Amino acid sequence: MGDFKFHGVDVTKLAREYGTPLYVMSEDEIVLRIREVKRCFDEKNERCSAFFSSKSFLTKDMLRILMREGMGLDVVSEGELFLARQMGFPPEKIAFHGNSKTDSEIAAGLDYGVGKFVCDSVGEIEVIDRMAKERGAGRANVLIRVTPGVDAHTHKYIATGGAGSKFGIPIEAVKDAVTLCGALDNVSLCGFHFHVGSQLMDNSTHIEALGVILNLIKKTRDELGFETRILDMGGGFGVRYTKNDAPQDIEGFIGGMTDYAEGFCRSNVIARPALVIEPGRWIVSGAGITLYSVGSVKRLPGGAVYVGVDGGYPDNPRPALYGAEYEAIVANKADLPPAETVSIAGKCCESGDILIQGIDLPEAERGDIIAVFSTGAYCHSMSNNYNKNPIPAVVMIKDGTPRLSVRRQSYEEMFSGNI
Ligand code: LLP
Repeated sequence: MGDFKFHGVDVTKLAREYGTPLYVMSEDEIVLRIREVKRCFDEKNERCSAFFSSKSFLTKDMLRILMREGMGLDVVSEGELFLARQMGFPPEKIAFHGNSKTDSEIAAGLDYGVGKFVCDSVGEIEVIDRMAKERGAGRANVLIRVTPGVDAHTHKYIATGGAGSKFGIPIEAVKDAVTLCGALDNVSLCGFHFHVGSQLMDNSTHIEALGVILNLIKKTRDELGFETRILDMGGGFGVRYTKNDAPQDIEGFIGGMTDYAEGFCRSNVIARPALVIEPGRWIVSGAGITLYSVGSVKRLPGGAVYVGVDGGYPDNPRPALYGAEYEAIVANKADLPPAETVSIAGKCCESGDILIQGIDLPEAERGDIIAVFSTGAYCHSMSNNYNKNPIPAVVMIKDGTPRLSVRRQSYEEMFSGNI
């Protein structure tokens, strides 16, 4: 029977060796994608650098890859920073995000000397100033995250730039925030940040937001004499999950943004700030698949068929949260034509735990291996222990050779905090 190979490796064998559910990632694909982003952004333009958004996928191996490839990191919590620090990730290449940073997080960022804090509120700027003063370690570099007031065409839970968003400082309040930074002795305002949303199929809303922020940059220079040195344009570059997704190619997506920024600055006679982007999903999504074992096949009298697997919501909450869609195959029957339309059901006690609704597959039976594609982003990082299912292992493939990258969580580890 035809067993499906992922980056040269028979995944049915991987499932047997490492158990399921199992995240399988291709290091080669991650590296390829990092290099592609760098080619289109860092290398094509002066003073442009891409930072990887670690919320999409963060493991020690991922950090090793990023350090080797010389890419910066965006972190959003003390936990993400903790691992980066443990791995000796260069602090100056870290941007610390978050709309509600705790004192402990700000302290950790200052103590490690992160390159910049992306400030999401005026109160946060004041806290950073105070804590930087207490430490006497010089000025902390900050960016102001601006809410551009642009509505991204994506799921409302992953749109972040619209007016009324919980993220960022409203555009009307930015002038005061810039003035405040100028009056503080322990922060150094380097510029602005915006992020319109995630999984965007083209750059139209990025460009719209860019227009808003570039006008703000011009205004703050003209009215306050503030020279913006850095403009961080966030992430959000869409990927293909199913055949219905047709994302703009990354070169065109990013290239359109840099061209727009260059053009605006030239015609408005302002110095082009250094530009930053923060891709997460685009780098890791297609580099990963998830393997499951079929546990049950139910053919209902009305014709519905449920193929139940040994994972679901705990290893991939995205379908339940955002109605996210995926494609999948029966990996050990890769040569068989589809025989019926089924739903792939997760194992959690939730009717909403359906990984894929309505997919054509060959007849599946208990013990078959299902491979779900494009799960490299926001699956491992959003995994959880609902119904006390352990977090699956991660296997990394490089040059056709698989290796264990993250061990499967044991039950002892799951309950280790219980007193
Ligand atoms: N920069 C900032 C400030 C962000 O908030 C995000 C994502 C990114 C960069 C990276 O965006 P990406 O290039 O990965 O689209 N859990 C959701 C996605 C949430 C994204 C949150 N912010 C999902 O599974 O679709």
